[in-house]
Amino acid sequence: MAELEQRGDRTPIPSAWEYATAPESREIVKLQERYGIFVGGEFVEPRSGEYYETLDPASEEPLAEIPQAGPEDVALAVESARGAFENGWSAARPAERAKYLFRIARILQERSREFAVLESLNGGKPIRESRDVDLPLAAAHFFYYAGWADKLEYAFPHRRPQPLGVAGQIIPWNFPLLMLAWKIAPALAGGNTVVLKPAETTPLSALLFCDVLRQAELPAGVVNIVTGDGATGAAIVKSDVDKIAFTGSTEVGKAIQRELAGTGKKLTLELGGKAANIIFDDAALDQAVEGIVNGIYFNQGHVCCAGSRLLVQESIYEPLIDKLKRRLTTLRVGDPLDKNTDVGAINSRQQLEKIEELVAAGKEEGAEIYQPPCRLPEKGYWFAPTVFTNVAQSYRIAQEEIFGPVLSVLTFRTPDEAVEKANNTPYGLSAGVWTEKGSRILWMAERLQAGVIWANTYNRFDPASPFGGYKESGFGREGGLHGLEPYLDFGGAEVSGG
Ligand code: NAI
Ligand code: MG
Repeated sequence: MAELEQRGDRTPIPSAWEYATAPESREIVKLQERYGIFVGGEFVEPRSGEYYETLDPASEEPLAEIPQAGPEDVALAVESARGAFENGWSAARPAERAKYLFRIARILQERSREFAVLESLNGGKPIRESRDVDLPLAAAHFFYYAGWADKLEYAFPHRRPQPLGVAGQIIPWNFPLLMLAWKIAPALAGGNTVVLKPAETTPLSALLFCDVLRQAELPAGVVNIVTGDGATGAAIVKSDVDKIAFTGSTEVGKAIQRELAGTGKKLTLELGGKAANIIFDDAALDQAVEGIVNGIYFNQGHVCCAGSRLLVQESIYEPLIDKLKRRLTTLRVGDPLDKNTDVGAINSRQQLEKIEELVAAGKEEGAEIYQPPCRLPEKGYWFAPTVFTNVAQSYRIAQEEIFGPVLSVLTFRTPDEAVEKANNTPYGLSAGVWTEKGSRILWMAERLQAGVIWANTYNRFDPASPFGGYKESGFGREGGLHGLEPYLDFGGAEVSGG
């Protein structure tokens, strides 16, 4: 150990190396000064007459004025979706629906650079991630569900799948376009129409997506986009929709569930998480360090399935933490549009304040904080990559979702203890297991209460693979055939024979 530390001391700190900037051009994005809501295939002024400014969180520069849609606007959007459902979409040949989904997927690929720049501009995430993760995955979701649209009877044999009607969809700000794709693609594949609300801080990619819908000549009213804050979301929940799909905080998820109880409207919830990323002493440590970094610093930690609790087997604690700290010094924090950037801007002032509050609580409760030396830009919302060691399970930083680039480290001795600690959370969305031993991966996966378990990797997504939680992380799945089911009605009756 001493030898390793010595070597560590002699290792040059790579953050001292200067990198030339490599900014992606903003030119490709054409912003309007003011947007409308997208209802019946057109942008219209909101009846509410209210607007708010959306910002670039990296500079606090205002980007555009966005409608704060009111209940009347929501009612209009739902009416438009209802009309489109009844006048053609639900009865369209399934292959027709597939055609539009394929078109949308291809247009997203063609315009991916434009979308990636816009996503980074409005949300603060590094262009490397929006370019290499958000955009390819969003297109892949449309491709994937396009493939199922005309094969529903094969997907659900003997069950006579029928569309539900109008789906109200409320999404968060951490993966604005990707969450839109997760919501819209299965809904349309199943023959439903949609009213979707992007999060208040990141509406721009959803508004640009309306342009894609027009380019794809999707029939008017099949997808309607209304913008606004939680009040607009609440209006959608109360409106005449047949289903609500929500991704966001557990608090709002619970409120929605209470509101919908007894209404007969269907509901799926994808809520928060506090995932354990578990490292056994036989794991490939350098690989594990990459997985830990990807698990918690990807998208500034604004990830519901982030590996925010690191569980390390005691025997490798010191070398692992040593490697991890060294790796943190190489992370570049800064301009989201710079192709070298690893960690971008925090999405909003509100989120920054939440992170700061929890980090202060961590220090106060007695955890030890480590942050690599890094210069944060003066304007905008920023938080340095952070590791807390000496964390007790009872600390707030071990219990609550921080949703920022902050890792809490705990230790364990035996696999049983790892399982017990990993499951000691109200959440149950995801987990990571790092070990060379295949049987141990399966043993752990059987016992971890989490919807998604990654083995010797982290934060990997595929449209064919269902994603969703246990306990306070919500219910229902997105992705795969499981993700289609919540958008279909099976009439309660199975068809016999055949
Ligand atoms: P939030 O749950 O308030 O917002 C998510 C979406 O719900 C937004 O579109 C928002 O406008 C809408 N919304 C808010 N109140 C609503 C209501 N009463 N009825 C219907 N829709 C409503 O999340 P927020 O405040 O942005 O973030 C707070 C915390 O929630 C984060 O710090 C994080 O811990 C967690 N979160 C989890 C996400 C996930 O992916 N599971 C995504 C975003 C936040
Ligand atoms: Mg909120």
